[in-house]
This record gives sequence, C-alpha cells and structure tokens, in this order.
Amino acid sequence: MNVAQILPYDRTFNFSAGPSCLPVEVLEQARDEMVNFRGSGMSIMEMSHRGKVFESVLEEAIADLRQLIGIPDHFKILFLQGGASLQFSMLAMNFLEEHRSADYVLTGTWGKKAIEAASLVGKTNVIFDSKSTNYDHAPRPSQMNYSENPCYIHFTSNETIQGVDFLKDPQVHGTFVCDMSSNILSRPVNMENYAMIYAGAQKNMGPAGVTLVILREDMLERVPRDMHPMLSYRVHAENDSMYNTPPTWGIYVCGLVYKWLLKTGGLEKRLELNQDKAQVLYDAIDQSDGFYTGHAKKGSRSLMNITFRLRTEEMSDQFVKEAKKEGFDGLKGHRSVGGCRASVYNAFPKAGCEALAEFMRHFAARNG
Ligand SMILES: Cc1ncc(COP(=O)(O)O)c(C=O)c1O
Repeated sequence: MNVAQILPYDRTFNFSAGPSCLPVEVLEQARDEMVNFRGSGMSIMEMSHRGKVFESVLEEAIADLRQLIGIPDHFKILFLQGGASLQFSMLAMNFLEEHRSADYVLTGTWGKKAIEAASLVGKTNVIFDSKSTNYDHAPRPSQMNYSENPCYIHFTSNETIQGVDFLKDPQVHGTFVCDMSSNILSRPVNMENYAMIYAGAQKNMGPAGVTLVILREDMLERVPRDMHPMLSYRVHAENDSMYNTPPTWGIYVCGLVYKWLLKTGGLEKRLELNQDKAQVLYDAIDQSDGFYTGHAKKGSRSLMNITFRLRTEEMSDQFVKEAKKEGFDGLKGHRSVGGCRASVYNAFPKAGCEALAEFMRHFAARNG
C-alpha cells in the first residue's frame, strides 16, 4: 500500500499516543501565518502576550471552546503549563483539605499516578480498582463505593495506556474531577456533571506545553490563601491565565483546532466519526479468530486508544516492525502493557483505520 497516495505531504499514518497528529488544515494555517501573523509584522511566537493581537487570540480560543463543549459562564477556562501531571499535584494542593479525603477511581496507569501525587498532600480513598484484571475495564455506576463526604472524586475518562474508557459522563451528582487528557473533545460532555476537567493538549487539541483546565467558579473559594501563586487556581483564574507568560503558541494552535472542530460539525459529529473509526479496528480484532486479542473489555473500549496483542510478544513486535515498513507509525504498545496500541485521535483519518485493518488481515493470513 502506498500511504503517500492517501495522505498529503508524504505524511505517514501516525498512530502515536501523544503528541500525535493534528488536522492538516490546522498545520497549513499555522504554516501560512507563521512569519507575519495577521499583518502584525511578526509571528505569534514573537509578540507580547499582553498586546491586543495575542489577547484576541486567547479570547477567541476561549469563546470557541465554550461554544464547542457548551461550557456555562460559571466555569473558568484556564490554559496552564506543566502538563496533566502537574494537575495531579495542583488538584490535591488546592482542594484536598487537611481533615478530609478525596475519592479516586483507578482504571489504569494515569489514575495511579494521580493518586500517588495526591497522597503526598493528603488522604486518598481508592473507591474502585481494576488491578486484579490488569486494568481492562471501567466500573459500572453500582461499583463505585463513594466515601461519605469527599473533597472531590477523581477519575480518568480514558486511560491512554490500557485503552479503557468510561464512554459516559458520571451518572450521579458529586464533585467530579476528570483527567480527560486523551479523550477531550472526542465526544459531547455535560459540564454540569463536573467540578473540574483537565487535559494536556498534545493528543486531541494542539502541541505539548499547554494544559487546559475547566473549573467551576465556586471551587475557587476553596483554594487555600497561602498557596504558591503558580500553583493556585485562584491566582490563574484572577489573572485569566496571564499571571505569567502563557504558552502563546500552543494556545493559538489549540484555538485553530477548536475552529476546525466547530467547522466540521462539533462534538456530536465527532463522536459519530470516532465510533466509526474505532469500530473498523475493533472489527478487525474481533473477526480475527483470536489472532488478535483486545485488551479492554467490551463496554469499556476506548474510541481513542485501541489496545490489542498478538499471541506472543515476539509476534506483536514483528507486527509493529512490518507495519512501520508499510507506513503505519507508532503502533507499539506502552512498555507497561506490551502488545500494540493504535491511537486514533480526532485528527486521525478513517482511511488510516481501514488501511491498518487490511494490513492486520493480511498479517494474520500470513502468520496465523
Ligand atoms: C490520561 C493521561 N493523563 C495524564 C497524562 C500526562 O500528561 P503530561 O505528559 O501532559 O503530564 C497523560 C499522558 O499521556 C495521559 O494520557
């Protein structure tokens, strides 16, 4: 198969878990505006973040994101730095109170890291843990053993490494905080179910270096007064993400991605496209007579990260190697899980899923 015939600019099918592929239209616009940004005489990277031009880029990005997700006015939208990993700590430092605890739902590697960071700050209760089945599913609502009065309830909507997805917003009322790093903007979300959502940009939104935080405003009253300013949500909110120099380039590219998503039908449409794309690969797994085995259980299968393995690790390695030669990049599973992982975020084309499914069938026929 000749990938170059399908994708422009000799681009490869990029199945990387992140940073990962961005829409070509977005890359083209960023390229075209690179040297002289909208008549300013300089690139967006070279101008003051306090000037009118960048100010309007930031305002537009916030307005477009509000429209895209449907974020009510009583939520603040912040663009921070330090990745989702810093949010693991910031969340607890801002909201985990001394004589109380926070609930954590553990469905994979990133949730575990969130717990480890929060445990350095205060008491955490793990209210669900799928370790015994090697993190292959999300809980049913009845399996969540909530504590009496937690400061918040944290979960990871999509575990990127295991490919395990809740697929739904929380079904009950609570102070839910969600790490949406690997499936933000892949489906509609009802913000009223959340106190806070956060996500690193580098999978579904833009380049690494920007972290999106969407925070219900009443939460700001809980932030301790003696918090270090760069770690305080209140300080970032009061300064509209401009307490220090924000990641201007990243915010600009995220803004272009928001416009692209609005233009291509919004999040309802995106969900439809993502379900369609993921189905192509899950069908290839399910119809392989056991040659490929999916990691996540049906009902928790991620639409973004499709995890599967072959009969042996050696065969998985061989698959990844041969696939790479054919123009499919980034299929090796995370070292902690093994096997293979095809990450097919919003910007990944369906043609890539179809081409990989075909390659999978041929590989199985040759090696089965
Ligand atoms: C679900 C999830 N949470 C957190 C992280 C960590 O993000 P960062 O590298 O931006 O700190 C990742 C990174 O892959 C992730 O997939």
